[in-house]
Amino acid sequence: MSTAISPTAYNYKVVRQFAIMTVVWGILGMGLGVFIASQLVWPELNFDLPWTTFGRLRPLHTNLVIFAFGGCALFATSYYVVQRTCQTRLISDGLAAFTFWGWQAVIIGAIITLPMGFTTTKEYAELEWPLAILLAIVWVTYGIVFFGTIVKRKTKHIYVGNWFYGAFIVVTAMLHIVNHASLPVSFFKSYSAYSGATDAMIQWWYGHNAVGFFLTTGFLGMMYYFVPKQAERPIYSYRLSIVHFWALITLYIWAGPHHLHYTALPDWAQSLGMAMSIVLLAPSWGGMINGMMTLSGAWHKLRTDPILRFLVVSLAFYGMSTFEGPMMAIKTVNSLSHYTDWTIGHVHAGALGWVAMISIGALYHMIPKLYGRAQMHSTSLINTHFWLATIGTVLYIASMWVNGITQGLMWRAINDDGTLTYSFVEALQASHPGFIVRAIGGAFFASGMLFMAYNVWRTVRASNSVEAEAAAKIAVVGAH
Ligand code: HEM
Ligand code: HEM
Repeated sequence: MSTAISPTAYNYKVVRQFAIMTVVWGILGMGLGVFIASQLVWPELNFDLPWTTFGRLRPLHTNLVIFAFGGCALFATSYYVVQRTCQTRLISDGLAAFTFWGWQAVIIGAIITLPMGFTTTKEYAELEWPLAILLAIVWVTYGIVFFGTIVKRKTKHIYVGNWFYGAFIVVTAMLHIVNHASLPVSFFKSYSAYSGATDAMIQWWYGHNAVGFFLTTGFLGMMYYFVPKQAERPIYSYRLSIVHFWALITLYIWAGPHHLHYTALPDWAQSLGMAMSIVLLAPSWGGMINGMMTLSGAWHKLRTDPILRFLVVSLAFYGMSTFEGPMMAIKTVNSLSHYTDWTIGHVHAGALGWVAMISIGALYHMIPKLYGRAQMHSTSLINTHFWLATIGTVLYIASMWVNGITQGLMWRAINDDGTLTYSFVEALQASHPGFIVRAIGGAFFASGMLFMAYNVWRTVRASNSVEAEAAAKIAVVGAH
């Protein structure tokens, strides 16, 4: 079919591939999340096998949800947005296809190697060196396709969404390559090029910016395109979006040390990380407000449009988690929250509430357009999905707040004679009800993804190749 595509059409094939795989990996990654959440309730589910223990499946969960689900959503939407806002086709179909198949290969590699126990042990950078090198090659190719397309654009300006996607691509390459510098000793074992406190600092410079650039900046690119599109309003303030962009990318990169409070890291570095994290509230909220205010005059649409609801609620969770984060970065607060489920609750307020919800909203907007359909097969199923996702997120984060604060207070409680008031096991027992609620919340969220899969399948099935082909034709006027 691809040979018949005229050069004046967008390359929607790769966007469709990434979009469908977002749903597939979403179901698997979140399903695995529910499974490991259940292991914390019923430890028997570890099955006494090395491959199925919590310790090995947890990094598989994070890799699947962040890189497979989140990554595919970012590839799909960035390729869609860059073509439409630049009114031109991706520079190379071959390179774009390579990024798709290369990315899937990295994910399959993770699914095989992580349960087998091959890991660098660095969080969010667990994949051993052969996979890390493949990932770097795919990523650089992604950069070539994305920026090459921007260079040959037919429009004068570079739409602000592309600025965010561009920063996300460049910084992710830098973080991945620097943090993965290591010495291989065998095909599946390598040692970091850094040691001691330096290694920890580089790892959390990477880790925090994986949050800042992978889980935030890329998804802000999504926000700047899909919120105005779905609300059918221009972005609230173009000027604010530029201030937002520069403030966000200059500040994020300094905040990493808040992951290493009260460690061997020099004290000044910890305090710098804390200060930068507090300042980070301003650009984060600037962006959230810019997205929210885009709905001025269109709020009534929320009554009837569940896709818009996904997008707006994701911004609310973004605002919430970026208020909570700076607060947790304050050393005295961190002395209570660190090591507890509070961190896990914060992570999922961002991950479920912000990252997953904005991706789901963007996919519901984009999928009918990719297949030449006016809308998704069923709006009421989107609505059902919206409520499952929202209730699921609230159950997840509320239970983790209760657990986190309970654990923090129980661990630090001291008797008059200086001994600990509670043993660790007592704090674990107190956490049990929260673990159950979290597993139920997760099951809500993951089952919403099954509704999505059905809805997507019906939408795709209803489309024929002529409609799908016509959808990819560039309408030169007002294409974006
Ligand atoms: C159905 C939804 C989900 C469930 C039930 C779930 C469950 C879990 C569980 C049980 C853990 C381990 C917590 C612990 O060690 O105590 C975890 C960790 C994690 N999950 Fe999820 N998860 C879900 C979705 C997601 C999504 C969509 C993302 C990202 C986009 C995500 C990102 C993470 C991260 C980054 C961690 C590690 C947190 C840390 O080390 O502080 N999760 N998840
Ligand atoms: C202004 C924005 C933010 C700040 C200042 C911030 C700050 C923090 C702090 C202080 C921690 C706890 C560190 C520790 O005690 O170990 C943390 C953990 C984390 N945050 Fe945020 N956060 C922000 C936004 C977000 C968002 C939007 C997301 C997700 C989309 C997110 C994902 C995470 C993850 C995954 C961790 C756990 C890292 C780990 O230990 O494995 N954060 N954040």
